[in-house]
Amino acid sequence: ETVSYTAEETGKSGYDHYMLKEIHEQPTALRQCFSGRADALDGTITLEEVGEIPQPDAVQFVACGTSYHAALYGAATLREMGIPAEAYLASEYALSPPPLSLGTLVVGITQSGETADTLAALRDAKSRGVTTLALTNTVNSTAARECDHAVYIRAGPEIGVAATKTFSSQLVGCNLLAEELVEGQLDLRPLIESLRNLPDDVQSILDSSAAEAIVEEYGDSDAYFFIGRGKNVAVALEGALKCKEISYEHAEGFPAGELKHGPLALVTPDTPVFAVVTGDDKRAQKTLGNIKEVQARGAPVIAVTDGESDAAEIADETLEIPETTERAAPVLANVQLQLFSYHLADALGRPIDKPRNLAKSVTVE
Ligand code: G6P
Repeated sequence: ETVSYTAEETGKSGYDHYMLKEIHEQPTALRQCFSGRADALDGTITLEEVGEIPQPDAVQFVACGTSYHAALYGAATLREMGIPAEAYLASEYALSPPPLSLGTLVVGITQSGETADTLAALRDAKSRGVTTLALTNTVNSTAARECDHAVYIRAGPEIGVAATKTFSSQLVGCNLLAEELVEGQLDLRPLIESLRNLPDDVQSILDSSAAEAIVEEYGDSDAYFFIGRGKNVAVALEGALKCKEISYEHAEGFPAGELKHGPLALVTPDTPVFAVVTGDDKRAQKTLGNIKEVQARGAPVIAVTDGESDAAEIADETLEIPETTERAAPVLANVQLQLFSYHLADALGRPIDKPRNLAKSVTVE
């Protein structure tokens, strides 16, 4: 659990950057997040620290930056389980609070537990009388102390300004929380199994990723675009954020269906498009259409895919992920994009652990 480690205490353990070390720590982080919280035989998930929270009427997530992308994933997950849920940028929520009923649960996702905008949003919610919960990496942080409940993602200390392992753990944390909150779910065993296998699946990506080769091929492009649908919208946005913050290259992520409403005007042979396509549902099928659309404008497409759809066959390049559940796949796809951004930034000689103008924890509104 993260309390007060300094960079000097943790060290880079032979890695060139903390970011790369933390990317490689993900199997351990994910194991820690999951440990003791699920029973694979009974198919039950329990978060001891929350005790008995009644099933909420609705959930509002508030968060910033990478944590906001985890919130998008969390909200999509809860909606699929039948609970009205939305993700809000904390800076917007705090100043333009959306309506809520007393049965609403407000969940702040914050690695540090100290982000000023997220704290302000949580305080606003609390002042309106609803239950608040912090999903955080930092025991005893302000968010953990001020909220009615705290759930820890147990990712261990993260030094790199760009969040990596904590995002993966936040996604697992969202699954654990959703299953804890929503009563009467069907058989959870396949989900539990896939979350339990995540550390090994991530390790297999770390051992075999083609991300460095993609950087060699496309590392001098004009811009990088990232598309996905459903929970993979969160992955597309996070892929673009990671890319711009550490490589300083122009990167944009959007829901694949929005391409035709503007971003397509920017697509050229010098703008590789990363298409995150997992599973083979309607969303995947639609995204295959988007791949063809950008290819028709000459853009090379890198599919981040599990091979269930035809994405790998259609795309120019592939970053492969192991087959898993629909809930776990975004975690794996994101690891491939972390590696791409890291290697791109490294090839460009950027100060990866301390990007210009950015801070690990933003404690001003
Ligand atoms: C800063 C960091 C980001 C992080 C965001 C939210 O901008 O550079 O990596 O996602 O704050 O931080 P939090 O601690 O609230 O998750």
